[in-house]
Amino acid sequence: MDLYTGSVAISREELHQRIAGKQALVCLLTDTIDAAVLDAAGPQLKIVANVAVGYNNIDVPACRARGVAVTNTPDVLTNACADFTWALILAVTRRLGEGERVVRAGKWGGWALDYMLGMELRGKQLGLVGLGRIGRAVADKAPAFGMTVAYTARTPAGLPGATHMPLDRLLATSDIVSLHCPMTPDTKHLIDQKALTKMKRSAYLINTSRGPVVDEGALAWALKERLIAGAALDVYEKEPEIHAGLMTLENVLLIPHLASATTETRTGMADLAVSNAIAVVTGQPPLTPVP
Ligand code: GLV
Repeated sequence: MDLYTGSVAISREELHQRIAGKQALVCLLTDTIDAAVLDAAGPQLKIVANVAVGYNNIDVPACRARGVAVTNTPDVLTNACADFTWALILAVTRRLGEGERVVRAGKWGGWALDYMLGMELRGKQLGLVGLGRIGRAVADKAPAFGMTVAYTARTPAGLPGATHMPLDRLLATSDIVSLHCPMTPDTKHLIDQKALTKMKRSAYLINTSRGPVVDEGALAWALKERLIAGAALDVYEKEPEIHAGLMTLENVLLIPHLASATTETRTGMADLAVSNAIAVVTGQPPLTPVP
């Protein structure tokens, strides 16, 4: 076994060198696993086990062409990610980031009736883009906040009490638009300038999916022009870089990719990835192969 313990993502060169001759690779979403990595590993490689539910960092067809299994870590992170989505929704609509910055800067002048007003959730529509496990878990908590739920999904799966609608209508009618789709060629820049202009001026965008689903330049423009009220982002197009236009805005909450970051969930993710690797190396089927 070879364990990389660096605090930043392993370099391509080091990964190529250290993966040579191994049967299993347990990797992170910050590792790009493409044909070159698979070739560097050699024909004995049996599995690439990603410690993440999203697997857009892995060239799945290249793995399949070489008979290499690919697994991810669904289920174990659903609850943490859904809770976190609600944390972002509450934080951005109640202006917690802005409020904290004012306090820490020593600029708070005291309570005032009309100071830093936000938006209440009761009676508003939550629009979910994507209705997988995490989208559903987010929807489950909507009644607690008095929100109705609308959703888009590739295959309209029933969700009691929620309304399926096309993306355009969801964007035009939702007060919160929360992204829960995977990152694929079809969803890259799904939320672009055109999509943002369809949203209500009073609406908020939440992204806990993958950064490239949103065109960050277009979002910075829409927030600056106040075409939408605000946004809360956990993921970015080129992590850890963040579009310079977003960094100076007050109406965006910027969080460093933390949705699944609880001790319980990250332990569950690591355990599941390792169990997948052990299963495949010992001739068993993988527990959670990617679809
Ligand atoms: C985190 O972003 C994951 O996909 O698990």
